[in-house]
Amino acid sequence: MSSTSLPSGVRLRPLATADAGALAEAYRANRTHLAPWEPHRDEVFFTAAGQADRISASLAAAAAGTEVPRVLASADGIVGILNLTGIVRGPFLSAHVGYWVDAGLQGRGVCSAALTAAMDHARDHLGLHRLQASVLPHNAGSRAVLTRAGFTVIGTAPSYLRIAGTWQDHLLYQRILDDPDL
Ligand SMILES: CC(C)(COP(=O)(O)OP(=O)(O)OC[C@H]1O[C@@H](n2cnc3c(N)ncnc32)[C@H](O)[C@@H]1OP(=O)(O)O)[C@@H](O)C(=O)NCCC(=O)NCCS
Repeated sequence: MSSTSLPSGVRLRPLATADAGALAEAYRANRTHLAPWEPHRDEVFFTAAGQADRISASLAAAAAGTEVPRVLASADGIVGILNLTGIVRGPFLSAHVGYWVDAGLQGRGVCSAALTAAMDHARDHLGLHRLQASVLPHNAGSRAVLTRAGFTVIGTAPSYLRIAGTWQDHLLYQRILDDPDL
């Protein structure tokens, strides 16, 4: 998953130190779009300095083998992210997947194509057995993306994440990567 072409001229590519300014701009442009689905963000999050700190933490985790941070990039700048986080090896061989797509690019298959590329990478290059996603029950778009990619609901986790300032129940989805029947 070094760099992959997606619909609408978008590319999925590795996060880089130089992305701080563009990422801050993308988060500012999508602040309202993302607010219901993300943790509460303080103001520094929307600055290049705040994103530079987050990027260096992500790149350190990538070097340690626990994250694969990727951005969705177009000619206009950064238009989303797709990250594998919490990579655990041993008998689990699992990771969590998270993503968002720019408000103006929704419904064009960008997230679905990015998720397919991430699943291929997780299975074929990282040797993972499983991906997990946690989703708010009323997030119809994200649930559709996961269902389309073959994820299934494995349960409900009460008060699982503090999203938009409130602890909220989440649906847990998983996709077994190395067994086509699961
Ligand atoms: C969820 C999100 C990533 C989807 O990205 P996207 O690029 O628009 O998704 P796709 O175009 O690949 O759509 C995949 C499917 O979901 C459907 N879908 C997308 N948004 C939808 C919505 N709001 N309601 C119902 N279905 C929706 C599409 O119609 C498509 O269905 P199809 O396969 O039958 O054609 C995007 O809407 C987003 O960034 N939302 C805000 C952040 C977020 O929710 N992140 C995930 C947190 S768990």
